[in-house]
Amino acid sequence: MFYETRERDKRLLPHDPFKAIVAPRPIGWISTRAKDGRINLAPYSFFNGFCSAPPIVGFSSEGAKDSAAFAVESGEFVANLATLNLLHPMSETSAPLPRGDNEFLHAGLTMAPCRLVAAPRVAEARASLECQVTETVELRSRQGATMDRYLVLGEVVAVHIDDRFIKDGRFDTAGAQPIARCGYQDYAVVERLISLARPPGAGG
Ligand SMILES: Cc1cc2nc3c(=O)[nH]c(=O)nc-3n(C[C@H](O)[C@H](O)[C@H](O)COP(=O)(O)O)c2cc1C
Repeated sequence: MFYETRERDKRLLPHDPFKAIVAPRPIGWISTRAKDGRINLAPYSFFNGFCSAPPIVGFSSEGAKDSAAFAVESGEFVANLATLNLLHPMSETSAPLPRGDNEFLHAGLTMAPCRLVAAPRVAEARASLECQVTETVELRSRQGATMDRYLVLGEVVAVHIDDRFIKDGRFDTAGAQPIARCGYQDYAVVERLISLARPPGAGG
């Protein structure tokens, strides 16, 4: 099958497969604190790391949602790791609550203080990244039109790891069972790793 994006045959592919192809996507479970103290928590799967030194992560908001708005106005956010044991509460925090309603309370999650940023982290998360916003990019279509989509990038300034998932000086990714977003209503779980040394001289 081939199709130009704008000409997808909706009888053959009723749902856009884009998110099922760009998959699995890690989930940035973003907690923020507005300047006036309102707390927010929501999952973002247009999320990733973009650089290791300095460590930069970013999430993309389709519309000026609370997470992006609060991160931009406060200059801070926390990216919490979503894991299989937190699948349901993570999903609950995507509910469209009125602006400023605290999704921690809605999903029965515990707020834990951060050290370098004012936003709380998810106490139940097996890892959390404290971030300071470095830039916000308003995404554009190929014609240059802005479309109310915002990529918020932040430098990781502090890291929390649940000590149970540190093994032999490494974060036990498979043991922590991160979940990742695929297309439709599907998620993937990381439970098995394969290791491969890089070719000699390969950087990065
Ligand atoms: C697993 C998952 C991933 C999501 N990823 C995104 C995303 O990348 N961008 C986005 O705009 N919304 C995404 N959403 C929807 C938001 O979480 C949802 O709109 C939420 O209400 C936004 O909350 P906020 O306004 O408090 O930030 C996702 C939802 C789920 C369940």
